[in-house]
Amino acid sequence: MKLCMIGTGYVGLVSGVCFSDLGNDVICVDKDTSKINSLKKGKIPIYEPGLSELVVKNNKNQKLSFSTDLKKSIKDSDIIFICVGTPTKKGSSSADLTQIFSVARDISLSLNKFKIIITKSTVPVTTGDEIEKIISKKNKKNKFSVVSNPEFLREGEAIRDFTYPDRIVIGSNDSKSNRILRNLYAPLISKGAQYIHCSRRAAELIKYASNAFLATKITFINEIANLCEKTGINIEDISIGMGLDKRIGSRFLRAGPAYGGSCFPKDTKAIISTADKFRTNLSVIKSVVKSNKNRSNILLSRVYDILNKKIKNKKITFLGVTFKANTDDMRDSSSLTMIPALSKKGAIIRYFDPTGYKKEFKRNKNVFYENSIKKAIVGADLVIIHTEWNDFKSINFKNLVRKKKFIIFDMRNIYSPNKLNSQGFKYYSIGR
Ligand code: UGA
Repeated sequence: MKLCMIGTGYVGLVSGVCFSDLGNDVICVDKDTSKINSLKKGKIPIYEPGLSELVVKNNKNQKLSFSTDLKKSIKDSDIIFICVGTPTKKGSSSADLTQIFSVARDISLSLNKFKIIITKSTVPVTTGDEIEKIISKKNKKNKFSVVSNPEFLREGEAIRDFTYPDRIVIGSNDSKSNRILRNLYAPLISKGAQYIHCSRRAAELIKYASNAFLATKITFINEIANLCEKTGINIEDISIGMGLDKRIGSRFLRAGPAYGGSCFPKDTKAIISTADKFRTNLSVIKSVVKSNKNRSNILLSRVYDILNKKIKNKKITFLGVTFKANTDDMRDSSSLTMIPALSKKGAIIRYFDPTGYKKEFKRNKNVFYENSIKKAIVGADLVIIHTEWNDFKSINFKNLVRKKKFIIFDMRNIYSPNKLNSQGFKYYSIGR
């Protein structure tokens, strides 16, 4: 099938590349000329394991191409995926749909035959209805179908998540598009993915409700971890004990820093805003947002306590600053709250991240990037393990000690407390 992906951000690029790998002819369009030129040369604008190999392979096979010509790309395709950003609107908590509606207007001017127009971007309930209205101003209703097909891939695991999804959700109000899309996804369905056909509004809400629920799960376990710290219980026992109940499930029960990234913080706020519009109070999700906002303050208080409230001139090392491992994404990372707060109190911060220097800290006083774990750690008073990269999982801390042993605060519970305590380190972690 001929597919057009509009927007080459995370969702558009990964989905486009993976669809081409399934044998479809895919054209990825973006108005950012330099991005498209780089992609044509095989240069990938995001850090995603395995993606660049697939781009090169499918480009060579002539299954995947890149363009800035939106009109022609739409005309040449059967299915159009809208994959542009839906960031939080400035000065509000709702999703900014400017790019979505602008693309819908562009599509409305280029429909030369029947096309399925799909929102893969995360969009609030009723956005599909709005898109349909925009397109029907210029086109007859039987010339197009507007569908919601949310994406559930995670950064760092995106290719695996696309190829082996738990479910494929198709929200469409007609059977023709459902038939065509079931066919498009047949290679994934045959590998075990569940295919769900529902109304377009339901599909839009499934995406938000899923992200909000996962954010709730994380926030829940983070709060239970706070209680474990006061009661001498190991949070790992609780996560295992709860997770084995099939009704609960073990995933997303890892306690740690505040959840971050480009999705959970934005989508939890947006679903609340949508519900407010429909006069519905999502009080649980409101509490989650509030609790997560306070999470970095709780962890900062622990850092102050660990250092006996003497922060000035303390040498603090951060291992990993992105919002999680296997990504270079800094959006809503808890390090963006913690590092500036510690630097304001006079700490000297060094950080190492496998994805390199981060411009986000360039204005913060005494915050330095080091290009190796060793350089970042040697001479530190406190080492904070902020993300769970494999690179951080087997560090020989003993070899990195100079005169005085540093303290370790493992915010991802990577290490065994017994092991590090027995090596003479003061070791702190989350909920144990
Ligand atoms: C998330 C969802 O997991 C995807 O299903 C969804 O498609 C995506 O948002 C999106 O809407 O585009 P992502 O933001 O890449 O994916 O990251 P996650 O792996 O879900 O992690 C989000 C945050 O939760 C991170 O800060 C991570 O460290 C934290 N987390 C995750 C925990 O603290 N504990 C856990 O057990 C799991």
